Amino acid sequence: MNRTKINKLLKAKSPKNKVLLKGWVRTRRDSKDFSFMEINDGSCLKNIQVIADSELANYEAVKKVTTGSAVAVTGSLIESPGRGQKWEIKAHKVEIISIAPDSFPLQKKRHTDEFLRTIAHLRPRTNKYGAGFRIRSELSFAVHRFFKEKGFKYIHSPIITGSDCEGAGELFRVTTLDNGHPKAQDGRHDYAEDFFGAETYLTVSGQLAAEMFALALGDVYTFGPTFRAEKSNTRRHVAEFWMVEPEMAFCDISGNMDLGEEMIKYLVASVLDECPEDIELFARFVDKKLMRVLDNIVKSDFVRMTYTEAIEILQKARRKFEFPVEFGTDLQTEHERFLTEHYLKKPVILINYPKTIKPFYMRLNDDDRTVAAMDILTPGIGEIIGGSQREERLDVLQARMQATGLDPEKHWWYLDSRRYGTAPHSGFGLGFERLLMLVTGISNIRDVIPFPRTPDSIEF
Ligand code: 4AD
Ligand code: MG
Repeated sequence: MNRTKINKLLKAKSPKNKVLLKGWVRTRRDSKDFSFMEINDGSCLKNIQVIADSELANYEAVKKVTTGSAVAVTGSLIESPGRGQKWEIKAHKVEIISIAPDSFPLQKKRHTDEFLRTIAHLRPRTNKYGAGFRIRSELSFAVHRFFKEKGFKYIHSPIITGSDCEGAGELFRVTTLDNGHPKAQDGRHDYAEDFFGAETYLTVSGQLAAEMFALALGDVYTFGPTFRAEKSNTRRHVAEFWMVEPEMAFCDISGNMDLGEEMIKYLVASVLDECPEDIELFARFVDKKLMRVLDNIVKSDFVRMTYTEAIEILQKARRKFEFPVEFGTDLQTEHERFLTEHYLKKPVILINYPKTIKPFYMRLNDDDRTVAAMDILTPGIGEIIGGSQREERLDVLQARMQATGLDPEKHWWYLDSRRYGTAPHSGFGLGFERLLMLVTGISNIRDVIPFPRTPDSIEF
């Protein structure tokens, strides 16, 4: 039985039940004839107090139980006379499963996030990280429920790929060769000896696979790990992260924007609904504005504007940015924050970016200068979604591939989808960790993923 089940028992008002609870001791203190233990089993935020009295056969041993130790308690639920809790367990039996030595690093005090990153294997045993990772779990299910309710099919796109979907060259290579690849006569690397007989990488996005399936099954999505060898040590980037990527056939950029907005609202609302206790911890101890921020996301209409309009706003802003902006520059964090936090004070969907700063697959607009891209930016986070309507016209796509240095021959199968039964289609990628930062108020992406992968850091 876990604590969550006990909570259900209590709600059912049948507290006479005998319970068996296994968990870890957060604290223990003695009074004259009793030992009080705060037990947490990880299933929810709250501890439950266990009272062990001196009648217990192993009472002397119980008095030696330390913080971090594992115990199994059999007892009955009784109404608690103490403050701060309604119910406690009067132990009939305390089985000591293991004793943690005094060197256990999580003694009862607040630790910094920086310190906890150095013990990433133990940090889920703290209140804050336990709450964060329970929310992560609930949010994953909510993603699947959202799509299930809308009739989307779930596609497993491959992790090992031969193409750089985003064209940014931020690739981790996959090889079984010990010493890299021998040079062939033309001076290029020879991949013939390698496992796949070709150059291969960890995927940066499941999009190209998702597109093939959207053009077969209609509305689909992928949800899996993606990898980027970006050497940027920021609080918003990790080298391995999870991405949710819907792809819809017969859908233009406007339907794509609608889905992005609906999905973010749905996911935020379901966390508020399903994890009230854990969210409250973040609202109290991590970000005092959290509830207002989340409420604003759920209730406000996201602003929609073009990239060009956004550039004009930024240029007119009475603020000195570190990076000046003009048509053709990528928006930096400072610009995204200005727009969402100061100017609009709510999420914004920016569309129609210059083709020069976006990947080959985005649909070229009639102005020949911009593509049907859409990014969703939210206060506090900046870019949370990046997507577009896809280029469905074979000739335009081929020209864009060539212009961006992509080998059309290597992507023959992708081009085939435009050759046979091509249709307008759209999709986007939502950074799952960025969404978690949004709903918890946690400001560093390293603290919302169990074992973060960042440059020069792979301890766990
Ligand atoms: O904007 P991106 O690069 O878009 C794509 O990969 C498209 N192929 C998606 C699609 O249309 N199917 O990435 C999508 C999102 C970003 O908006 C951001 O939230 C997240 O993925 N993201 C990262 N999150 C954490 N660490 C990183 N290094 C990230 N790079 C992107
Ligand atoms: Mg992007």
